[in-house]
Amino acid sequence: MPNDFLWGGAISATQVEGAYNHDGKGLSNLDLALRCKKGEKRQITQQVDVNQYYPSHRAIGFYESYQKDIQLFADMGFKSLRFSIQWSRIFPTGEEERPNEAGLLFYEKILDELERHRIEPIITISHFDLPENLVTKYGSWKNRQVITFYLRFCEALFQRFSDRVRYWIPFNEINVITYMPYFSTGIHTENYQEIFQMAHHQLVASAKAVQLGRKYSSNYRFATMLMYGPTYPHNCHPESVFQAMMDDEETYYFGDIQIRGYYSPWAKKMLEQLGVQLAITEEDEQDLREGVVDFVSISYYMSWTTAPETAAGNMATGGKNPFLEQSEWGWQVDPLGLRISLNRLYQRYEKEIMIVENGLGAVDHCSENGEIYDDYRIDYLQQHLLAVKQAIVLDGVPVIGFTVWSAIDSISASTGEIGKRYGLIYVDLDDEGQGTLARKKKASFYWYQKIIESNGAEL
Ligand code: BG6
Repeated sequence: MPNDFLWGGAISATQVEGAYNHDGKGLSNLDLALRCKKGEKRQITQQVDVNQYYPSHRAIGFYESYQKDIQLFADMGFKSLRFSIQWSRIFPTGEEERPNEAGLLFYEKILDELERHRIEPIITISHFDLPENLVTKYGSWKNRQVITFYLRFCEALFQRFSDRVRYWIPFNEINVITYMPYFSTGIHTENYQEIFQMAHHQLVASAKAVQLGRKYSSNYRFATMLMYGPTYPHNCHPESVFQAMMDDEETYYFGDIQIRGYYSPWAKKMLEQLGVQLAITEEDEQDLREGVVDFVSISYYMSWTTAPETAAGNMATGGKNPFLEQSEWGWQVDPLGLRISLNRLYQRYEKEIMIVENGLGAVDHCSENGEIYDDYRIDYLQQHLLAVKQAIVLDGVPVIGFTVWSAIDSISASTGEIGKRYGLIYVDLDDEGQGTLARKKKASFYWYQKIIESNGAEL
């Protein structure tokens, strides 16, 4: 792998921090989401009900244990950590004029720890959360004013963290808004007009954040972050090939705007066909043009086909592929799909790519001697990382980093489970929220450590 390859792991605030009402933090939309089971959708309550279990309230206790956890990440050899800032920790209602000092301090302490261990921070500004007050009082991203609140949030980070951070991701999986708008907006809707208008506001917010960030540091590098998985035709009938191509275009909708700076002719036609009329001002168009990002980042978990029979996924679903195995949660496992994705994305955008999420959600069992032998996770990561290596070495794709999902077991975004474990470090917590939160290194921890140490030579 390239010498400066950013090996590392990823986490997100609502999935690890807990301390949901500590040190002045406001309520976030995710703080009202209950746990559900495989195949179900998370239920949301109107307000906090003391008789219910909300996984984000305690999560895995990273708010208290961040020092020890970062020490573990350093022991694994991480060169980078992707984490997110919880908006409601910095601006509890989203409307304040000034940021909450205790919130900023928490993330500053994380940066201190990372610097101490020479781990590069990669910050996701908004990873599926926003202050609940912005949802109830303003109608969330439907309201253009939320762009102003978001920029105030960004500015507080740019000001405070200044040159300590180089890599910024304005929105996690920005395209997920079209499948499951609740996560990034706090709103359940299937109305395309609403969804694409909210998406437009996020795209403008992203472009404005890029421009604002550049005023603070010429060192900043911003990325689009797409949930990416290629769609394959399920046979060679031209109809099937065409359908697969069109399905892929839907993913490029967001990347095209953030990278090229405008709505493509295809995007405009798609909106027209959906009967969507976006309110776009001339200033928006200028912002999109002037706020393009520097590189591409993706999460990659699976691929799809155009087959009528659907396979499971977290935020989106697609057709089944008879040639692929599935994870315990029914996600299709396709390492070559990652190499295909990297090639496609590079051919389209000619920008450096970072894989900021990839990993396997599985049930882990402690063996009699107390160890966790997660060979299935090692196998999954080994195959996917090999595909990354091949894309770099054989295809010439400039991949600059890989942050495994997840550095440590965390609460699942789509279900709120902890039983669907992704981490290389085990956390003693069950799906009812019971457990000591003790950490334990899994076999994959030692495996990843070796891979990083050899800079990928051992793959
Ligand atoms: C991505 C999200 O969609 O997939 C993460 O960015 C999420 O937040 C990850 O945790 C895995 O999905 P899930 O739903 O199994 O947690």
